[in-house]
Amino acid sequence: WPQDVGIIAMEVYFPAQFVDQAELEDFDGVSKGKYTIGLGQTRMGFCSDCEDINSLCLTALTQLMEKTGIDYTSIGRLEVGTETLVDKSKSVKSFLMTAFAASGNSDVEGVDSTNACYGGTAALFNAVNWVESSAWDGRYAVVVAGDIAVYASGAARPTSGAGAIAMLVGPNAPLVLDRGVRSSHMNHSYDFYKPVMSSEYPIVDGKLSIRCYFAALDSCYKTYLSKARKHLDEEVKSLADFKAVLFHTPYCKLVQKSFARLAYNDFRCLSPEAAAALHPSLTAFRDLPLEDTYFNRDIEQAFMASSEEAFLTQTKPSLLLATEVGNMYTPSLYGALASFLAGYSADPDSLVGSRLCLFSYGSGLASTMYSIVIKSGLAQQRLGADVRLPSSNGQAGWSLSQLVSSLSDLQQRLASRQKVPPQIYSDIMKLRESTHHLAPYKPVGCTSSLLPGTWYLTYIDDLHRRQYERVP
Ligand code: CAA
Repeated sequence: WPQDVGIIAMEVYFPAQFVDQAELEDFDGVSKGKYTIGLGQTRMGFCSDCEDINSLCLTALTQLMEKTGIDYTSIGRLEVGTETLVDKSKSVKSFLMTAFAASGNSDVEGVDSTNACYGGTAALFNAVNWVESSAWDGRYAVVVAGDIAVYASGAARPTSGAGAIAMLVGPNAPLVLDRGVRSSHMNHSYDFYKPVMSSEYPIVDGKLSIRCYFAALDSCYKTYLSKARKHLDEEVKSLADFKAVLFHTPYCKLVQKSFARLAYNDFRCLSPEAAAALHPSLTAFRDLPLEDTYFNRDIEQAFMASSEEAFLTQTKPSLLLATEVGNMYTPSLYGALASFLAGYSADPDSLVGSRLCLFSYGSGLASTMYSIVIKSGLAQQRLGADVRLPSSNGQAGWSLSQLVSSLSDLQQRLASRQKVPPQIYSDIMKLRESTHHLAPYKPVGCTSSLLPGTWYLTYIDDLHRRQYERVP
């Protein structure tokens, strides 16, 4: 069986324009600090009407292929995770096959996975499962997670965002998914859902969604630790055993609270004596039913304070894309992974042997906690750091240093985006709203801000067939 199956290379795409969250606070007339401190958001990426889910995913896919130099004939599976549906039947994956046309390769398994922000993780698991299965034919898999996250104007709108991330999956990977420890919590809930096909916007019960997120986190963590005891060689019994803890990030403040929540879960596992020594005033909270503790301010504040230092090193560096672009939905967790890796571009090899914990959450609800172990990658071990992926077999991989250095320009790419005033952002949202699912339709959004290599929508004909072009 193929060994060390996981993520070999990544490509991140986010919109070329953003709105500033502090300016948005003024524009929306909310109290100063509500979005920037209360939610922990700095900037928010958004798309005009000339970008849609197909163009976003196509940009991420083609740029991944160009960056790695891999041939389209070397891909045997393509998976898409998205909740941004422009069609109830035709998958985004089927559209992405346009990129394969010139290669003549149509032998590519996989379609779309949809369940709110969880679809990217479902797609990744499908890809990994395929490589580890009897159906594997020796080629690579590609996963594309993409979404345009938009909310009706109101409390949820500052938690919008957009983006797409493409990942190359195969054996001998630098980011290896641990086997036997994936731990899920799946349940029915109407916390966030999109029943109205004529609108891009979800129906959201904000407080319920936070409750569901915390419940899923608690449940996944408990199951993960018990599976880790059985299936991992190394001891993994608390937060301290991970180099980093990465979360699906609807907004950054929730992630800091979630990190503190995991610290609270660890506290509950301590002996009464150890718990009393750590938080003498909180021992009474140790045995409360977990569901009674989600909005308990005493617990939240105590554990946010006591876990702050660990949060700053284990999680904060992974929030770069989340605070700068916003909630990308399905790519959000993988944006955290890319942000974390980008922080190690000066010394990627220091990561070798580290274990990362990842928590994926999609409303409705589906959630999984799993872990990744970082290895140097076969290419570097055997073939030297400069080796490119071979074009026709699935046996080699990109090295860790190639993966990390390919992400090292994230900060600079974020800094070079165009800032747009809130009024224009609001007008563009109104335009998207009034033209959603309109056909025929010619987008009027400005394409001059799009970077070279970006795909964009040029026309929707009267049969809702979409046409695209690429910025040269
Ligand atoms: N300065 C500093 N902080 C301020 C402030 C100010 N001037 N004004 C308010 N705040 C604080 C509040 O005290 C609050 O802090 P706590 O969370 O610690 O209580 C925080 O800012 C947010 O304020 P509100 O609770 O008043 O915010 P709201 O009710 O208006 O909306 C929200 C917040 C519910 C998250 C809303 O943005 C929303 O519905 N977002 C979409 C749903 C979502 O993201 N849910 C998260 C889990 S679901 C999920 O993960 C799936 C997904 O991707 C959607």
